Amino acid sequence: PTQLPSRSSDSNFVSKMKASGRNVIVFYGSQTGTAEEFAGRLAKEATRWGMKGMVADPEECDMNELAQLTDIENHLAIFCMATYGEGDPTDNAQEFFEFLEAGDEQLDGVQYTVFGLGNKTYEHYNAMAKFVDKKMAELGAKRVYELGLGDDDANMEDDFITWKDAMWPAVCEYFGIEALAQDINMRQYKLTVLEEYDPTRVFTGEIARLNSLKLGSQRPPFDSKNPFLAEIRINRELFKGGDRNCMHIELDIEGSRIRYDSGDHVAIYPINNTDLVNRLIELTGENADKVITLTNVDEDSSKKHPFPCPCSYRTALSHYVDVAALPRTHVLKELAEYTADNREKEQLLLMSGTSEAGKAAYHQWIIQDVRTIVHILEDLPSCKPPLDYLCELLPRLQARYYSISSSAKLHPTTIHVTANVLIYKTPTGRTNKGVCTTYLNQLKPDNGTKFHVPIFVRKSQFRLPSKPQTPVIMIGPGTGIAPFRGFIQERNLQKEEGKPVGRTVLYFGCRKKANDYLYEEELEEYKNSGLLELYVAFSRDQQEKVYVTHLMSQNKKDIWKIIGEENGHLYVCGDAKNMARDVNGLIIKICQTEGEMDQTQAELFVKKMITQKRYSSDVWS
Ligand code: 2AM
Repeated sequence: PTQLPSRSSDSNFVSKMKASGRNVIVFYGSQTGTAEEFAGRLAKEATRWGMKGMVADPEECDMNELAQLTDIENHLAIFCMATYGEGDPTDNAQEFFEFLEAGDEQLDGVQYTVFGLGNKTYEHYNAMAKFVDKKMAELGAKRVYELGLGDDDANMEDDFITWKDAMWPAVCEYFGIEALAQDINMRQYKLTVLEEYDPTRVFTGEIARLNSLKLGSQRPPFDSKNPFLAEIRINRELFKGGDRNCMHIELDIEGSRIRYDSGDHVAIYPINNTDLVNRLIELTGENADKVITLTNVDEDSSKKHPFPCPCSYRTALSHYVDVAALPRTHVLKELAEYTADNREKEQLLLMSGTSEAGKAAYHQWIIQDVRTIVHILEDLPSCKPPLDYLCELLPRLQARYYSISSSAKLHPTTIHVTANVLIYKTPTGRTNKGVCTTYLNQLKPDNGTKFHVPIFVRKSQFRLPSKPQTPVIMIGPGTGIAPFRGFIQERNLQKEEGKPVGRTVLYFGCRKKANDYLYEEELEEYKNSGLLELYVAFSRDQQEKVYVTHLMSQNKKDIWKIIGEENGHLYVCGDAKNMARDVNGLIIKICQTEGEMDQTQAELFVKKMITQKRYSSDVWS
């Protein structure tokens, strides 16, 4: 019998490295694109240090080949690994995680280093990176530079550049090559302006395949590379007062074969704000209708274009480039090359460097002041980079994820989303708007106009207990209510079907009863029908703040009864930094006072709850 290769020949990364004379390979575990972006920067930078690198997606590689890296002299495997959810690997690193966990392969002599992307706000800080770093060593691989950890809650960019600027010289020393960082200008993509072109071959916002985003020519299965165009059936305001907005959106998935469970996430591909796109075109003096192709100068690279090409500048800026992202330090360094005024140039160079003053300046001028590329070009009038270079340098626009706020058992043909419209004033007096919520907020099908948005569903671990009798406590202030609306719908159906449904307790919180009490009527109805035990904390309806944690504190005994005696499940959704952390602290306290444990036992108890999937979080920062 013939043996079929399980993957394309592209998966043989070692032979590919040999054929193209590379010694550095940068693997990434990425969910929202940042780890992939960092991997790209590292692969490109290898050249400056006299090496040659390439980027690789572990999902598309035969990772069994890792051991063969030792055939290549001065080889280095760099892992840029993001940690996702509750200490989990990203989707594309799942198989690699299992490969390492199985530990069947000896990796003697494989030289590696790891940089992790995480967030200290979360319980399992950088768990995936720590795991890869430890496991590689256990399997015999040689750590040539120490593990680096990036904290998105503080300053990921700072952590990254500090790590890599020490990593490269250390690697050079290890290889016994001269550690000379050459300052060579490296454009990765070559610009071609298409004077004549076939308009049917020009991309207009498709994520991957040409014409895949046309109604009528869509084909399942739908996923991140082939999103489904869902019609927006309903887009209504949930807040009753105040000056903020919260959208309730219903997306039609009829006929798409998309299935979802309560607790899953829906990803939506946004389009950048037109004013922002126009402003950037104006500032760079380009012609928005020019049709261009950016082609990788490295012919061996598996990434031929930074985004689908050819396309017009307008398409690139609207659909493919994240123009609202805060530019990273390497972008500032490149911008300096196109800045005529010396003071402005110096400022950019300072911020792109790793000196303490430079880091502080970057933190103040970019992060604190939330300056996007448009703001930078406005504030540094002599900075005139070509638009095609900006298209190369800025990160790719990513889909945004939302916790689904419906149950497919009740709503099999629609997916509901509950999202605050993000808008805020920056310290420089500008108004910044959230990319996706601002986009969605314009798509109101009220007067008969139909709007469609590209979506796909991502499965989660956030699940109701398998037995309906199991009691549940749900804590979800603000839009953290989203998955619980689905949970409650599902429990209610089970109850109506005559199943024995356990206690269903919800702690919700908002600012004012009259303004932002989300789904008030629905929740009150579930309460009156006897399904829901409802506790609502209105934080700003009185002098003193009242939060969900305050209401929980009043019910310590009851909470302990459910989680400590009845094997119930606890769920937290919403703000990671303050709310979820406070809830976690309170639960540990309840275990102590009500469960008669000491601090260590209580922490262990909560850890066990998490591993048993009796304590689940769906939180964001
Ligand atoms: P605040 O904005 O008045 O401080 C949803 O965002 C609700 O969560 C708001 O009422 C908000 O109150 C409240 N909230 C803020 N911090 C919280 C915390 N640490 N724990 C629980 N709720 C919190």
